[in-house]
Amino acid sequence: MHNTCTDFIVIRSKFSNLSDRLNGQSPCFLQRANNVVSRRSLHVTCALDKSRTAAEQRWLARQMKDPYVREAQTHNYRCRSAFKLLEIDNKHHILQPGHHVIDCGAAPGAWSQVAVEKVNSLGRDSAASAGFVVGVDLLNIAPLDGAVFLSNSDITDFDTQKKIISVLPSGKADVILSDMAPNATGIRDLDHQRLVNMCLSLLELSERVLLSGGTFLCKVWDGSEINLVRDRLRQRFQDVRTVKPKASRMESAEVYLLAKLHRQQKR
Ligand SMILES: C[S@@+](CC[C@H](N)C(=O)[O-])C[C@H]1O[C@@H](n2cnc3c(N)ncnc32)[C@H](O)[C@@H]1O
Repeated sequence: MHNTCTDFIVIRSKFSNLSDRLNGQSPCFLQRANNVVSRRSLHVTCALDKSRTAAEQRWLARQMKDPYVREAQTHNYRCRSAFKLLEIDNKHHILQPGHHVIDCGAAPGAWSQVAVEKVNSLGRDSAASAGFVVGVDLLNIAPLDGAVFLSNSDITDFDTQKKIISVLPSGKADVILSDMAPNATGIRDLDHQRLVNMCLSLLELSERVLLSGGTFLCKVWDGSEINLVRDRLRQRFQDVRTVKPKASRMESAEVYLLAKLHRQQKR
């Protein structure tokens, strides 16, 4: 089963239906939690609560041991996935001060936090250009200084895309990021196909909003159709590569397709 976002450091103090949620649905619901408990109190709660299934115990134990979860807490990132983008950016330099960025599937907002820092959207570095970050998600995204969020919005929806274009300062973007993932059904081929379809839909969006020379980074679950996405990217970008940051768990089928140097569309 693909767990689309098993890395939130925000957790709900009442776990009564955690089992259902983990059984096929994206644990992204956790960001809607009303009560945040510390890892220590979680540990105590879990240790005392005999009603946890073995799968839940394993998931929680993995979270507790994960160094990226701890690092995310230390650096105030909303979830550990921040380190995937940081690692990719440190190596491939995709986010520069002044860039305009679209973050697709942005909740709870860790990638947007990284983007805000890297593109200087708060203008903290007065010597550098100030960028812009817009994040979109089906879920609610808690406000973040330096980013504009379109919550409860489906990125594949035409109206959402129109809204994105209207909020972008020039109607165009330098970078499209997507860590988006559908709720996993547990059927590997089906989940793969659904994520491939999302990537292809984003590629259409990129044709409308991405500047010449721009960058496209998307998550995809490895499978039979991954070459289709790669081929489409190669038609539109000069440099396409597959990356798997260390922060992405080895056992996860996720990889990221990084496409740089968007070609100017011939009209
Ligand atoms: C793995 S989480 C993203 C985590 C995010 N990168 C971060 O660092 O905080 C994947 C997100 O994709 C969102 N998503 C899935 N399908 C979507 C769609 N069609 N439109 C917008 N967001 C979508 C989910 O709601 C989920 O919040």
